[in-house]
Amino acid sequence: MKSAGSLAGLGALALLALAGCDLPGKPKAGPEVPRPEEVLAFETLYAANCAGCHGVHGQDGAATNLANPKYQALIDDASLREAIAKGVKATLMPAFAQENGGMLTDAQIDALVQGMRASWRRPDAFGGETPPPYKATHAGNAAKGQGVYAIACARCHGPSAQEAGTAGSILSGSFLALINEQTLRTTVIAGRPDIGEPDWRGHIPGRAMTDDEITDVSAWLMSQKPVNPGQPYPAVSTAVQTPGEKPASTLKR
Ligand code: HEC
Ligand code: HEC
Repeated sequence: MKSAGSLAGLGALALLALAGCDLPGKPKAGPEVPRPEEVLAFETLYAANCAGCHGVHGQDGAATNLANPKYQALIDDASLREAIAKGVKATLMPAFAQENGGMLTDAQIDALVQGMRASWRRPDAFGGETPPPYKATHAGNAAKGQGVYAIACARCHGPSAQEAGTAGSILSGSFLALINEQTLRTTVIAGRPDIGEPDWRGHIPGRAMTDDEITDVSAWLMSQKPVNPGQPYPAVSTAVQTPGEKPASTLKR
């Protein structure tokens, strides 16, 4: 829809163009603002789509530290691409590929992957050591994982859901409800230098965690995920009620 005013303006411009006038500041051929799907600059794509959750410079966000060189060294291109295109199941990471309901083209997702690599990857991020693989190779043993938690996590995150440690509780139901097993694995192996979570070598005093220990502790933490996060709420009061009055609580039962 065009207003009469803008049509008149267009008409005037067309006349000027016909007259061959070269106005200063005259727009060049083509759209002045690129169409959203034509933007391929990493900084622009990252700022518009990712920074809100992963932090302005890929750190200090609520979601993982993408600028951590150890993270960039740990994850392979295909997994990085898949997380962006399809989202991360059971977390708040949305799917960005158009075929999955998102707004980014394949070329834009490639630009994000390449941009992250160019900006945040460092050679030898692990100082010559080989970390456990990005993806777990087998299912974890949750029962063993509880013991791993006690030796590798409890000193900073507290021994139980009721007793948070200095680094906050990772046993809280509302926290566990928003993460998945891969998030835990990624966080434990690559660490989060932006918030002080160590990498896989810094959890147990004196030695690195093994691949199995990481798999097992992640499985145990996931087994602690509540079915209904945040529940139960404190019981609804059954205070004395005068006949004919509305009940104190309007909760439906
Ligand atoms: C609404 C918040 C939100 C937005 C926006 C968002 N993410 Fe995420 N992302 C998350 C959450 C939550 C997770 C899973 C938890 C975690 O890894 O911290 C995640 C996980 C990821 C992972 C996988 C981490 C792993 O375990 O290996 C990648 C890669 C990623 N995001 C990249 C991106 C990129 C690139 C963008 C922008 C195109 C983006 N995210 C936008 C919230 C978001
Ligand atoms: C030396 C102390 C220390 C140990 C040991 C430790 N952590 Fe952490 N961890 C931290 C700190 C500090 C944070 C940041 C807390 C914050 O931001 O409030 C953190 C944060 C986290 C986070 C949250 C990241 C986020 O999205 O906010 C996860 C998940 C986590 N740790 C998992 C673990 C697991 C699993 C273990 C045991 C295998 C473990 N940590 C052991 C210090 C530790």
